[in-house]
Amino acid sequence: MTNVAKSEKVMTAPAKKKDYGDPIVSVRGLKKHFPIKSGLIFQRETAAVKAVDGLDFDIFRGETLGLVGESGCGKSTTGRTILQLHRATAGTVNFEGTELTTLKGNNLREMRRKMQIIFQDPYASLNPRMSISRIISEPLVVHGIGSERDRQKRVEELLERVGLNPFFANRYPHEFSGGQRQRIGVARALALEPSFIVCDEPISALDVSIQAQVVNLLQDLQRDMGLTYLFIAHDLSMVRHICDRVAVMYLGKIVEMAESEELYTNPLHPYTQALLSAVPVPDPDVEENRQRIILKGDLPSPANPPIGCNFNTRCPVAIDVCFDWDPELIEVLPGHWVACHRVT
Ligand SMILES: Nc1ncnc2c1ncn2[C@@H]1O[C@H](COP(=O)(O)OP(=O)(O)OP(=O)(O)O)[C@@H](O)[C@H]1O
Ligand SMILES: [Mg+2]
Repeated sequence: MTNVAKSEKVMTAPAKKKDYGDPIVSVRGLKKHFPIKSGLIFQRETAAVKAVDGLDFDIFRGETLGLVGESGCGKSTTGRTILQLHRATAGTVNFEGTELTTLKGNNLREMRRKMQIIFQDPYASLNPRMSISRIISEPLVVHGIGSERDRQKRVEELLERVGLNPFFANRYPHEFSGGQRQRIGVARALALEPSFIVCDEPISALDVSIQAQVVNLLQDLQRDMGLTYLFIAHDLSMVRHICDRVAVMYLGKIVEMAESEELYTNPLHPYTQALLSAVPVPDPDVEENRQRIILKGDLPSPANPPIGCNFNTRCPVAIDVCFDWDPELIEVLPGHWVACHRVT
């Protein structure tokens, strides 16, 4: 086990921080609790699944922020709550200067044009009864943009932009491969010219050989169109080269956030260290000596999180204070944030 105690690591780590400019998205105190109801006729709320339980972070214009953590830790709920596909239980989401959590009706619809989502499963997220042309033009129809002819032209442009032949516009999703379907999902997300896209595990369901192609496409689009991404992924190895910064999530909270290289070379939270210890290293000498940190037990239920630090039931270095109160996310080095009593 790598030692996380107030270590010299903290003192000696290089303090580099890019100038990221103004945030495009600012999340403060964000919570999303799903009520658990009981009773046959008069259903009463008896408890809540604390899927997202107090997040504070910014996403800067033009960057890719990775959001990583194991299944059920609240990554998708975070993305959906930022986009207002779920309404927040508490907290604020500021997007390009507008507070979204209190926005309703037409004002919210207008803001939604600028924020889109790409889903994990390119098989389930495209309506099998709709032609590709209808799938991609649907957002334009919903927002009443352009004539039928304009929309058709736009569909052709978008198909070309994502590397598909416009000739196939009248075909149906089942006629395409997984990678091609994900390109269709990307074209649909681009239809309204958004500035921010939540990529919810967009490559996890694809063959490894296809993953790089979709990543390259997303990176080209980002460069050409100035897009900002929140890139959700299961494991840290996937996001290392895709993301500028990475936030590690555990049971509804962010436990560590830093620039990618900094997080990989100087992980401070024991959970991040455990995740990274599972990643194989290409250098055979380093790989031979790699020590895996095996976490005991499973992710606790978000309906009944532990008292104190959320991670205390599985933490190899927990001390008394970790069972008493929850550590705050603190900037221990420029741009490097950690929520751990053993570090701060
Ligand atoms: N609509 C919902 N109603 C009730 N509970 C929900 C709902 N959506 C998510 N949850 C619960 O919230 C928690 C977080 O779920 P979420 O889908 O955000 O996790 P995730 O990190 O995206 O997981 P995965 O990696 O499996 O996609 C889980 O316990 C899940 O069961
Ligand atoms: Mg998810």
